[in-house]
Amino acid sequence: MSTVVDLRSGQAAYPRMIATSLDCWLVSAHPSVLEHVAGTLGQWSNVRCQAYAALQHLEEAQQEEGGMLWPDLLLLYDQDDWECSLAEFREVSGHGLTAVLLFSQQPDTALMRQALRAGVQDVLGLPCDEDELLESLAAVAAHKLQHGRLGRVSVFLNGKGGMGATFLATSVAHLLAKEKQERTVLIDADSQFGCCHYLLGVQPKFSLSEALEQVEELDDMALEGLLCKHDSGLRLIGSRTEQLGGATTLTAQSFGLFLTKVRQHYDHVVVDLSRGVEAWNMPAVLEAHRLFMVVQQSLPALRDAALLLRQIRQATGIGNDKLRVIANRYSPRLDIGRDALCQPLGVSSAILVPNDFATANACANLGIPLTEAGRHKPLTRVLRGVMEELALQPSLPRTGFAGIWDRLRR
Ligand SMILES: Nc1ncnc2c1ncn2[C@@H]1O[C@H](COP(=O)(O)OP(=O)(O)OP(=O)(O)O)[C@@H](O)[C@H]1O
Ligand SMILES: [Mg+2]
Repeated sequence: MSTVVDLRSGQAAYPRMIATSLDCWLVSAHPSVLEHVAGTLGQWSNVRCQAYAALQHLEEAQQEEGGMLWPDLLLLYDQDDWECSLAEFREVSGHGLTAVLLFSQQPDTALMRQALRAGVQDVLGLPCDEDELLESLAAVAAHKLQHGRLGRVSVFLNGKGGMGATFLATSVAHLLAKEKQERTVLIDADSQFGCCHYLLGVQPKFSLSEALEQVEELDDMALEGLLCKHDSGLRLIGSRTEQLGGATTLTAQSFGLFLTKVRQHYDHVVVDLSRGVEAWNMPAVLEAHRLFMVVQQSLPALRDAALLLRQIRQATGIGNDKLRVIANRYSPRLDIGRDALCQPLGVSSAILVPNDFATANACANLGIPLTEAGRHKPLTRVLRGVMEELALQPSLPRTGFAGIWDRLRR
């Protein structure tokens, strides 16, 4: 990762970033252009660039469940059939939220005019001029902040204490960061017994209440400094405090603002609400893209979960499209089967997460994520399915031997 250098000390000060994270697709049949432009973009740590020789499989990807999230920026090269690629992209994506930049070895007024007519934001020279590129990226970032999408919020709620919401939230957040490489922040909202950091083997320096004290002034640099970084790229903030009874800075207003700021800079915010919904953390429930209600096959758990769901539905109007029930530690040998579990919760299906105490316990005791403790375990496979549902970019099926292997393992 490249860094800005502090000129006085010559030391790296902080990673180079633009105002918000940008997802870019770079399309060119010329490998040298792909390498050069992707390499230049790699200087900004929050600009993610996927390089393609051609745009293919767009329609199939679009038809996948949940659809595809289009990039913030499409980068084309004038020596390719760029107008055709752009038309194809627009036809499938069907909206104009993605900005387009065109690269050219010899940008001239005729090309500029042609590009502007096609709805391209800017034509940039090759080799890249860093300042020129930065100016264009900054404009796209500013537009995204004003009009663009915010990161997705996924909330893990317990139907009753101890159902496994912390373990599931941490594992899914880690999978998104590690295997999908999507920018993910995990918020541990348990101020008394918060333990996501144990599962990740890290020690956060700052707590959520400290972040909320300065939430008004928080910019992306300050935010990055407050978040604890895991090797996988996952960021974590815990709310564990020394204050009995919780910190007074935890208010719905400050937390709502914090959530928005995190969503402006990251693809996903996963919130562990295993200790329950409280007034201050309601913004997470209200803004949830997915609300995972974690239960187990026991009547008290199902009764409490049904009551909580009724209250949440009443208070927020959340529909079943956003709600997912997770039956954790599921065993087909127990009395309460899948249908008996879904019926009181008013849903037609549930995600069945197998019981695997040895693996879950290894994560907690050794501070290692699920991908290390049980990479190929059925438990991990189910949670990969949850990751796929949340991910911005669906995985394209692998080809060749790898694809055959994937199909056999399904
Ligand atoms: N699928 C699973 N199979 C086996 N054990 C599991 C599974 N999921 C979680 N556990 C174990 O269940 C215990 C409780 O998990 P966790 O701390 O995530 O629960 P919680 O719902 O967050 O609890 P709390 O209400 O205290 O916040 C832990 O020991 C964890 O390792
Ligand atoms: Mg918990």
